Amino acid sequence: MTRSPRTRRALLAAGACTAVAALLSTATATQATARTPLAAPDIPVSAVKADLAQLQSIADANGGNRAHGKPGYKASVDYIKGKLDAAGFTTELQEFNYGGAKGYNILADWPGGNEDQTVMAGAHLDSVGRGPGINDNGSGSAGILEVALAVSREGLKPAKHLRFAWWGAEEYGMVGSQHYLDTLGTGTSKLDSYLNFDMIGSPNPGYFVYDDDTRLEKVFKDWFATKNIPTEIETEGDGRSDHAPFKDAGVPVGGLFSGADYIKTPDQAQKWGGTAGQAFDACYHAACDTSRNIDDTALDNNTDAIANALWQLTS
Ligand code: TRP
Ligand code: CA
Ligand code: ZN
Repeated sequence: MTRSPRTRRALLAAGACTAVAALLSTATATQATARTPLAAPDIPVSAVKADLAQLQSIADANGGNRAHGKPGYKASVDYIKGKLDAAGFTTELQEFNYGGAKGYNILADWPGGNEDQTVMAGAHLDSVGRGPGINDNGSGSAGILEVALAVSREGLKPAKHLRFAWWGAEEYGMVGSQHYLDTLGTGTSKLDSYLNFDMIGSPNPGYFVYDDDTRLEKVFKDWFATKNIPTEIETEGDGRSDHAPFKDAGVPVGGLFSGADYIKTPDQAQKWGGTAGQAFDACYHAACDTSRNIDDTALDNNTDAIANALWQLTS
């Protein structure tokens, strides 16, 4: 029988306890039985890139976009949901109507954990009509998909319940995520936190961490600090993505963002090696937001940071 590292640690600790029981203080005994969160796995960026290539192909086959109400959106939904179903998630396709077209959210629950303390991670899956939306927001969508698949591969047994979401019609004003919250009603009291990932592979990236909640912000900032990656406080994001309706509903929110429009200050320009006035993503909301419009290092770092955050926050 192979034992998980956690079981092995617990057994070693138990053995030590028996041997030196007389010498142990109560504090040490308590420490020995405390839950130590397992380290999150490294998420292969090649897998995230492969998903982005699939989303690009879907756009190519459907008029160049994956926008709400267009066939490329539903094809994106089918691709993501198929992978989650095969990995053992309990998935739900939540429908809504907007602008005379049917919209969809995908909700994917990992079985187990305390549902009264649910940790959610979400990304919008729709693009603008003008392009394939690979950085905005294939990047966040593929990033959380690969973290979800890692949860399955590792057989994660979280203390808190874990739910992933892919939102429809964000580009029309966070319609899908707002719909989800409307249907949830007072169910928001069971949400421990909501983490949002919108644009995490910008070509000239900054590492923005949402500053809305200190506990959630710290989990990300600590991870980037261990990698010696300087982060920036996300302030311009207020109200600009799917975390906004959660925040308005009183749910603690956090998240990552690698930049959309412009580097504003000389300080930022120096930090990210650009110039003030230069875009983080020159193809933001444009036809050139293709699979070439991705910084692999930012995508890799941000995806690994998401995995770490979910492992920590659900333990
Ligand atoms: N989808 C967002 C939008 O189109 C992207 C974005 C811009 C964003 N600024 C942000 C997301 C700040 C998070 C935080 O506006
Ligand atoms: Ca990685
Ligand atoms: Zn957008």
